[in-house]
Amino acid sequence: MHKTSEWLLSFSAEQDANLKHTVHGSGHKTCIKISVTGGKGGVGKTSIALKMAQEFAKSGAKTLVIDCDSNLSNTAIKLGLPLDNKFEKLLSGDVSFEECIIQQGNFHLLPACNGSIEIFENKLNFDEIIIDIISSHEHQYDYILLDCPAGIGRDALTLNAYCDHRFVIVTPDKSSITDSYSLMKVLSQKFDIKENHVLVNMYQNEKQLQKVAMTLSETVENFLGCRTHILGGIQKLDVSAEGFDTFFLSETKSEWNKNFVKLLYGFTEKLVIQSAARTSGRSQLAYEHDVH
Ligand SMILES: Nc1ncnc2c1ncn2[C@@H]1O[C@H](COP(=O)(O)OP(=O)(O)O)[C@@H](O)[C@H]1O
Ligand SMILES: [Mg+2]
Repeated sequence: MHKTSEWLLSFSAEQDANLKHTVHGSGHKTCIKISVTGGKGGVGKTSIALKMAQEFAKSGAKTLVIDCDSNLSNTAIKLGLPLDNKFEKLLSGDVSFEECIIQQGNFHLLPACNGSIEIFENKLNFDEIIIDIISSHEHQYDYILLDCPAGIGRDALTLNAYCDHRFVIVTPDKSSITDSYSLMKVLSQKFDIKENHVLVNMYQNEKQLQKVAMTLSETVENFLGCRTHILGGIQKLDVSAEGFDTFFLSETKSEWNKNFVKLLYGFTEKLVIQSAARTSGRSQLAYEHDVH
């Protein structure tokens, strides 16, 4: 299990070589940590992180979403829950983790703050705080999903690097594609992260989905030497902005939702096969051969 101080120490001291080992760890992990990220704001990171977590929870997996947007937390609001800045009290030690999280069956959420003066004034290293929270509680969960903040600041980068998998959310908007590339570039060059998953959100038609996915994955491979797993996408839904959250999170029957669930199953299935291949001592190549 990682301890933040240890983790950050190896980052500043021996950088690249150590980082790869420290980020990915060496021991067996039961909790799978996934960051939902993308660089740009407004591309659907928070909505998708919540929906993923709900689907994992429905399938019986105990899942925690951590809102990593320290002072512009959007997760609770999307679920129609009141904002209470309780996270401040978690930091001061006045409430426990259990008192701070919102629980709906297997779905748990740790919201962050909204316009908290304390968070603003304390200039905390939020990434260290989140990593410590994960270290202390990961044994309780099958999945921990990090709803990453926009941008490629320290919090977003270190948290992405810390996770086992990154779901990069990209839209057909050119600035979203550029921002996702920039995120993967810094992750590759500073953190030695060479594999990412990409999900195309708000695409208009299949052709556009393919084009965005191929453009990004080819650029990332050619210029960064990184591998991209294309997960699929969610089309642009014709819903008003005010009604979007409720619709998106409660919809179960439509084709786009079925495809999204299928996409998640595809991802988890691969994890199971990979883990079985590792246990039986088979190479990654053998696994790839089986899957394709
Ligand atoms: N597939 C989609 N179709 C239509 N609108 C979408 C879709 N995904 C996201 N949106 C719109 O984008 C807004 C921002 O989404 P959000 O998840 O908050 O993005 P982020 O966390 O990346 O800033 C949503 O509130 C919704 O209005
Ligand atoms: Mg967000």
